[in-house]
Amino acid sequence: MTQDELKKAVAQAAVDYIVPHLDDNSVVGVGTGSTANFFIDLLAQHKNDFDGAVASSEATAERLKKHGIPVYDLNAVNGIEFYVDGADETNEHLELIKGGGGALTREKIVAAVAKTFICIADESKKVDILGDFPLPVEVIPMARSHVGREIVRLGGDPVYRDGFTTDNGNIIIDIHNLDISRPIAIEEKLNNIVGVVTNGLFARRPADVLLLGTGDGVKRID
Ligand code: A5P
Repeated sequence: MTQDELKKAVAQAAVDYIVPHLDDNSVVGVGTGSTANFFIDLLAQHKNDFDGAVASSEATAERLKKHGIPVYDLNAVNGIEFYVDGADETNEHLELIKGGGGALTREKIVAAVAKTFICIADESKKVDILGDFPLPVEVIPMARSHVGREIVRLGGDPVYRDGFTTDNGNIIIDIHNLDISRPIAIEEKLNNIVGVVTNGLFARRPADVLLLGTGDGVKRID
C-alpha cells in the first residue's frame, strides 16, 4: 500500500470508530494535515449524523466548510467528544510530536478539551524514541533570539522556519537533535521559556487511541 492509502485507511477507521457514538448535539474536533484531510473528506459523508466541528487551523476550517460541515468557535461549544488528528511521530506510549504543519497550538488546545483524542497515522510515524522529526515550537516573534538561545542551553539546535507565520500570527522554531528520552520533562521545560506559546510535544496529554496504518491493516493501540 502507498502512504496515501495507509492514511486513507486510518481515516476511515477513525470515522468507523466515532460515527456510532455521534448524535445531533455532537461536535467533533478536527486536526490538521494530509491524514486529517482524508478524515474530513470521509467524515463529510456522515455530516447529517452530528452537529458540527471545531477546527484546529484555518485550513481545516475551510475544508470542513467546503463540505458543508458547520464550524464552531471552541468557546461556543459545550464540549468535544472526539478529537481526530495525525502526528509527525508517535512512541509506544502514544506520546506525539506534532506541528509539522505549524498548527500545534490550536491542535493542543482542541486535544486538551476533547474527551477522547484519536491519533491517525501511517506506520512510518511510529518510533522508539521521539525526536528524529524536528520538534516545532510556536514563539512570539520578538522572543525569537531569546528562545533560540534557551533551546541551545537545553541541548537542541534551533532552526527558524523562514517565511512561515502561524494562524495566531507567530513564528515557528524547529528543534533538531534534541534528547527527548523524557518527553514530559522536555515539554514542560520548553513551555517554561518566556516567549514560547507552546511546543509540539504531546506528552502531558498523549493520544488516547492510536489507529496505525500498516501493511497488515489498521492496528488499534490504546
Ligand atoms: C499539523 O500541524 C501537524 O501536527 C500534523 O498533524 C502532522 O504534521 C501530521 O501531518 P500529516 O498527516 O500530513 O503527516
